Formats: sequence, C-alpha cells, structure tokens
Amino acid sequence: MTSRSVVIGYGHYLPEQIVENAAFEKTIDTSDEWIRTRSGIERRHFAAKGQHTSDLAAEAATAALANAGLSANDLDAIIVATSTPDLTFPSVATMVQQKIGMERGFGFDVQAVCAGFVFALSTANGLILSGQARRVLVIGAETFSRIMDWSDRSTSVLFGDGAGALILEAQTGSGTTDDRGILACDLNSDGRYKDMLYVDGGVSSTGTSGKLRMQGNALFRQAVEKLAATAEAALEKAGLGHADVDWIVPHQANIRIIQGTAKKLNVPMERVVLTVQDHGNTSAASIPLALSVGASSGRIKPGDLVLTEAIGGGLAWGAVALRW
Ligand code: ACO
Repeated sequence: MTSRSVVIGYGHYLPEQIVENAAFEKTIDTSDEWIRTRSGIERRHFAAKGQHTSDLAAEAATAALANAGLSANDLDAIIVATSTPDLTFPSVATMVQQKIGMERGFGFDVQAVCAGFVFALSTANGLILSGQARRVLVIGAETFSRIMDWSDRSTSVLFGDGAGALILEAQTGSGTTDDRGILACDLNSDGRYKDMLYVDGGVSSTGTSGKLRMQGNALFRQAVEKLAATAEAALEKAGLGHADVDWIVPHQANIRIIQGTAKKLNVPMERVVLTVQDHGNTSAASIPLALSVGASSGRIKPGDLVLTEAIGGGLAWGAVALRW
C-alpha cells in the first residue's frame, strides 16, 4: 500500500473588475487584435483598491473548503504560491490562516513565480508523504496588476489577478498509476536566466517593490522546449505516456506557448484546459484557476489523468502528473 496526496476539494476567486483588451488602446500604442493574436488574451480581472493577495487567496480557500465539505480546522497546513504578497512578511499563508479562522497547524509561502503552484503542489506532496500533514490547502494567488509598468506595452497587457486553491488529503493507494492523487513531480530552475524575467525592485536592493521586466520573445523560445521536457519527465517518472493524458492544465501565459507544448506532447488541443482568454497570465494562480474552472464545468472528472506544467521567472519550471 502506498500513501497518495489526493485532491478532495477545489475553488477559485476572480476579482469583480474585468478589463477588456480594448481598454489598453486608450493609454498605450496597442490593439485588441495584437493582444488576441500574439497572446490569446481577451480580458483579465484586476483586484480593487484595498483588495490584497491574501483576500483573493482566502476567497479561493473558502470555496475549496466548501467544495470539500470541510472547515478550516480540518486542515493541517496551508501553502500559498505567490510572488505578490501583501507585505514582505508575514507570509500570505498565515494571513489566510487568520482570515479563514484556522487556529491550528501551520502555513508558509512558496515563491517560484509562474511555476509557483507546481512547486507548492510538490512541497505539499512531500509534507503528506513524510507524514507531517494529512490535509494541505494549496493556493496560488496573485495581484500582478500591482507590479505592472503601465507604460510598457510589452508586459502590461498580459497579466491579471486571481486565486485558485486545491485541498490535498493523504489517502492509501495501491501504488499503481490507477491510484487517485499525485503520481509524479518534476522541478527545475536555472538562475542564469534571471534577466529574462524579473522585478526591478526589492527589500534588500532598492527598498521598493519594483515593476515587472520581461524579454518576452527570448522567454517564448525557452518556454515550449522546457515545458515539454518537464511534462515528459513527470509522465516518465509516473510510468505513463502521452496517450494516458486526459487533460493538460498548463500555466496560462500565451496560447501559442500552450499550443506548441501540446503539439510536442502529442496531445490534441481538445484535451487542454484553456482560461488564458478570460484570465490573462495570473502567474502562480493560473493553474489552480484552470483546474477549478475545468473541474467545476464538469470537464475534469474523478479518475482523469491531469498533467500540469509551468515556467516563470528564475527561470523556474516544472510539471505534476496527478490522477484527479
Ligand atoms: N501591442 C502592440 N505591439 C506590441 C505590443 C503590444 N502590446 N507589445 C509588443 N509589441 C511589439 C513589439 O514592440 C515588437 O515590435 P517591433 O517588431 O517593431 O520591435 C513586436 O510587437 C513583436 O514583439 P515580440 O516581443 O517579438 O512579440 P512576440 O510574438 O514574442 O509576443 C509576447 C510577445 C506575447 C510577450 C510573447 O513573447 C510571450 O508570451 N512570451 C512569453 C511570456 C511568458 O511565457 N512568460 C512566462 C511566465 S510569466 C512569469 O513568470 C511572471
């Protein structure tokens, strides 16, 4: 018998304000047509003034708890993947702990930019398999609108705000690939690519929170190759092949990256969950948002083999193969 980290609840939250591509035409030299064709994005949500990452995260957490039929004190741990915390410290996870009324266990944040949720899932799996926690709430939550340079047309049109959450629970499996739960993880980073995507401020350097800077085209060229390789590695570690994949749930940065990766993995686009058109790139929130949208719409069903993959600043990239 093998211990597995099984998804027993999911939920998401998107801020009320929706901004269509056309809104950017008023302030920068861009067009709805350019944004749609180059990125696949049509609209995105932005957090309201005074609405912080922990607020979005707590909303997604509350939805996931309701979906699982649990209360906050049934959880042992909270992990939040974010690069846009409310404050330098304490962690967003401990703020969520307070907001949802969890008075036990522990919480901490994981920062791997757009790959953050994959790293957080893998960390949660480690806690569960080592017996340190039985139920872990894993959240991806971001307010990237707060680190945009609104005069930079090459980045400001691409990002959005939101949060998604999963609850993982230790369950006993047979040790085969038929088991529900996380079957394999693959994590990577390479700090030599720092200049490709970074925020130009921070506590120990400028003393400011800074703005996002990205060499989009150079990153694009790295993305498809690295995403396909990490997805292949996760499948191989799980002892599975392309034909076993029911759903790819990719990081939602760019439709062309998603299509290129699916093609390399030999998985048709009908088996890819897409939210990039409605959410834009919500960094660490994009995969749990897409998982929650995919499951609540009835597409992702219990027993389906789901392959998540993401790349972001660091560069950091990775994939998780799990049976829903
Ligand atoms: N409107 C109109 N024109 C624009 C805009 C815009 N919003 N932005 C850039 N352009 C122009 C450029 O200036 C350039 O013009 P030039 O040829 O006169 O110099 C032209 O469009 C082409 O620019 P490219 O950057 O080559 O366009 P590309 O096809 O690569 O698309 C994009 C840009 C969408 C950013 C793409 O490169 C991309 O998605 N890259 C990867 C992003 C990504 O995966 N990020 C990872 C995760 S993010 C994270 O971790 C936080």
